[in-house]
Amino acid sequence: MSVPSGPKMCRCGFVRPDGSHGLRLYCRTSRCVYAGVVEHSVYVHPAARGRGVGRLLLAALIASTEAAGIWTIQSCIFPENTASVALHRTAGFRVVGRRERIGRHHGRWRDVLLIERRSPVI
Ligand SMILES: CC(C)(COP(=O)(O)OP(=O)(O)OC[C@H]1O[C@@H](n2cnc3c(N)ncnc32)[C@H](O)[C@@H]1OP(=O)(O)O)[C@@H](O)C(=O)NCCC(=O)NCCS
Repeated sequence: MSVPSGPKMCRCGFVRPDGSHGLRLYCRTSRCVYAGVVEHSVYVHPAARGRGVGRLLLAALIASTEAAGIWTIQSCIFPENTASVALHRTAGFRVVGRRERIGRHHGRWRDVLLIERRSPVI
């Protein structure tokens, strides 16, 4: 996976050609002070879940971003997405807090959990 370098807006990642699973990475700001902060989303096709694919994708993300000097990975997860919350906790993410009615999904206001992993090595 390629990772961003320097303070710029970007979007990169790994997604299977059929879109069934993958991982996307975004830089959210052009401000230098946050140059080492990225946001990601990860998803695995329902037929492939429970076989360690999500764990492998996150491990690859963490290793490649740390190698590139990224110090924080953040993401937003719907609270009811317990599998994703559990997966991220096992990878060293923590829940920063619950953001209320921040998303509008199919016409319904949704809360999300803001999660982050601060690299211990950078
Ligand atoms: C979350 C998701 C990526 C997990 O992928 P996966 O390949 O099935 O996960 P893995 O098999 O690698 O499981 C790794 C760990 O995640 C957790 N986990 C995975 N599925 C789980 C489930 N159904 N319930 C609880 N924990 C679960 C467990 O801690 C598991 O470790 P264990 O097997 O030792 O118990 C997958 O369920 C998914 O795509 N869900 C939708 C994701 C989504 O909405 N993404 C957008 C927001 S980031």
